[in-house]
Amino acid sequence: MRIATSIEPEHPLRAAIRPDFESGERRLRLVDLFAGCGGITLGIAQAARANEFALEIALAVDFESEATDAYSRNFASAQRVAHASVEEFFDGDLGAEATLAERRTANELGENGGIDILVGGPPCQGHSNLNNHTRRVDGKNALYLRMVRAAEILAPEVVLIENVPAVLRDRHDGEGVVARAERHLQKLGYQVDHRVVSAETLGVAQTRRRHILLATKAGHVDPATIFENLESNQIRHDLQWAIGDLVDIASAEPRDRAPQAKADNLARMQWLLANDEYDLPNEHRPKCHQGTHSYKSMYGRLRWDQPAQTITSGFGSIGQGRFMHPDLPRALTAHEAARIQGFPDYFDFSSCSTRAALATMIGNAVPPQLGTAVVSALFEAGAFGSMEGVLPSSALA
Ligand SMILES: C[S@@+](CC[C@H](N)C(=O)[O-])C[C@H]1O[C@@H](n2cnc3c(N)ncnc32)[C@H](O)[C@@H]1O
Repeated sequence: MRIATSIEPEHPLRAAIRPDFESGERRLRLVDLFAGCGGITLGIAQAARANEFALEIALAVDFESEATDAYSRNFASAQRVAHASVEEFFDGDLGAEATLAERRTANELGENGGIDILVGGPPCQGHSNLNNHTRRVDGKNALYLRMVRAAEILAPEVVLIENVPAVLRDRHDGEGVVARAERHLQKLGYQVDHRVVSAETLGVAQTRRRHILLATKAGHVDPATIFENLESNQIRHDLQWAIGDLVDIASAEPRDRAPQAKADNLARMQWLLANDEYDLPNEHRPKCHQGTHSYKSMYGRLRWDQPAQTITSGFGSIGQGRFMHPDLPRALTAHEAARIQGFPDYFDFSSCSTRAALATMIGNAVPPQLGTAVVSALFEAGAFGSMEGVLPSSALA
């Protein structure tokens, strides 16, 4: 495993001061739908800054106020953060004339020029492997196609849709949603490619796998070359790299508060530490989890020299997955979970009103590095090089 700590001037996750994503010689104009707290936006902001582009957020939409509050706090200069359904902005059928709402959206966004990149991660509960009984038929699958409709209305240079790998098996009106999205985007003049990528290869200390669909306007950078770039420029990190410095942190911040375990789970963790084990044997599990099971990671202890498993909103309990700290008899703190999700320390989750809301926000987020990797590769390939988005000098002061 290549550990990148020694060659980096500053550890990217320990940075406490937010970079000025709003200045740069040119601008990259973004719309983020199903935006959550803005994991993808943050990644794109980082890639834009590295290329001396200012990020201009024209619109971010999410129907959860906890999400829009967190987004607004971290991207205060966003022109519009809408606490609303994506369907309120894009409610027309694929291929149909723009509706009134869509014309209003396009006019509002069009005033300041076109959209360079449209991104979104429609909710995945409808087809998560953890949710067998509702997947494949859930109406949420149709939300995937709202991204395509938004592309039809806004005509951005680039479209990036993020989802769980199981989206490849989802169907809507008798056709796979990804195939339908690809076909329609091609009809609109985009080149399209899609792959399942592992966050583990993009510099995230986590084995999270995501499906990415990337579309670029015909004649511009080919999405296939972007995916090839991601495959050949792998960066890997282990847990030590992500959270090793937080073991002895003296902090009264809510994000550093150790999760409390019930006596039986505490005993399980103490057994794992005392026996230097990482998987809990059957006899130490609750009766209902004994016998033949596929939950090996449940009640498991994390290893310093490996990435973590997928972080979910259950990271604060060892009964929800392999979430026990490598050295301590406790599950992960919110700070550790955010780091493992790829969020630097300057990202502000303090608007979350409860611990549960904070856990959901972190668990639902997309690791920013996913956005950084794709958009950095787009920059490298010259995707935004010819844009006419030069800011007026007053905006650079
Ligand atoms: C997987 S999370 C998105 C994570 C986010 N893209 C990021 O980069 O961190 C999905 C989000 O979609 C929001 N959502 C679900 N259905 C929605 C809808 N119909 N309209 C607006 N937001 C929606 C949820 O509130 C949730 O925050």
